[in-house]
Amino acid sequence: MEDIELLNEATQEAEAAEDSRALYEVKMKFLGRTGKVTALLKGMKELAAEARPAFGKKVNALREALEEKFAAIEERLKKRELERKLEGEQIDVTMPGRHTKAGALHPVTRVKDRLIDLFSGMGFEVFEGPEIENDYYNFTALNTPADHPARDMQDTFYLTEEFLLRTQTSAGQIRVMEQKKPPIKILSPGRVFRSDDDATHSPMFHQMEGLVVDKGITLCDLQGMLDEFARTMFAETTKTRLRPSYFPFTEPSVEVDVSCTACGGKGCALCKGTGWIEVLGAGMVNRRVLENCGVDPDVYSGFAFGMGIERIAMLKYGINNIKLLTENDVRFLEQFKD
Ligand code: DAH
Repeated sequence: MEDIELLNEATQEAEAAEDSRALYEVKMKFLGRTGKVTALLKGMKELAAEARPAFGKKVNALREALEEKFAAIEERLKKRELERKLEGEQIDVTMPGRHTKAGALHPVTRVKDRLIDLFSGMGFEVFEGPEIENDYYNFTALNTPADHPARDMQDTFYLTEEFLLRTQTSAGQIRVMEQKKPPIKILSPGRVFRSDDDATHSPMFHQMEGLVVDKGITLCDLQGMLDEFARTMFAETTKTRLRPSYFPFTEPSVEVDVSCTACGGKGCALCKGTGWIEVLGAGMVNRRVLENCGVDPDVYSGFAFGMGIERIAMLKYGINNIKLLTENDVRFLEQFKD
């Protein structure tokens, strides 16, 4: 009698199982090591010896019947689970797709690459100097000895008496002239550092230096190259003008203006009504600088120029605060994709 009751009980519970996990629990409850059917078999030793074979046969039949039942139910449950899983994984082709935003080059990188492109087209090679410089390369060799008032033009981060964070990529001019004999035509891009901080100045910014040394180089060569630079970087109609200025490492020295990038020269708020905007410093390499590098100034002459890359980017793209270039706000940066 016991076996019929157990069969009914187990069948009922198995039928009620919601999923294969629950069915497994039922299976263990009856057929597991401590299960009810197993317990019947274990209890067999208490029976009289002659009653055991018949009892054993009955329990084994019960076990087989249960195993068959469980297997059938399990198959049904597995099938249902698979169906549910497939239903859940159906792809809704009408759902809107997920967009991955494409990155964009930083405006400073764009301008730097553009400049390298432009000048390498004119035969310039790129040379990169170190960001930690010594006093000699950054100042002294550039005709700016320790007591020179022009040192005050650049608020310098000194690391030690001798070492500093370079304030200008002009230091690269010396390094190149020490390594290479003329003709020289190099471009030296990189980070520079000054203790300055306002809407148009940042303690770290980028410069692009240019140096040409050869026989018979004149200011006209500089002017011609600058015209090409201004037309390529800004607009085909952009004009340049040279204003006398002073840098210890050039003689004569000039400040280079371009016709205003906003009004084209008529006069506006950006150019403060003058029609011109200052973009870089330049000049003919000072004889003393050539001499410092073992280049004979009676045989060779050269011109040099240095520009702030952020400044060019701000003019080109109409950016009014230099901080925007370092804040990494994606809404700002993603606008430069042209
Ligand atoms: N180094 C100068 C500065 O940082 C810029 C400069 C002016 C570079 C004249 C030059 C140059 O090569 O000839 O203000």
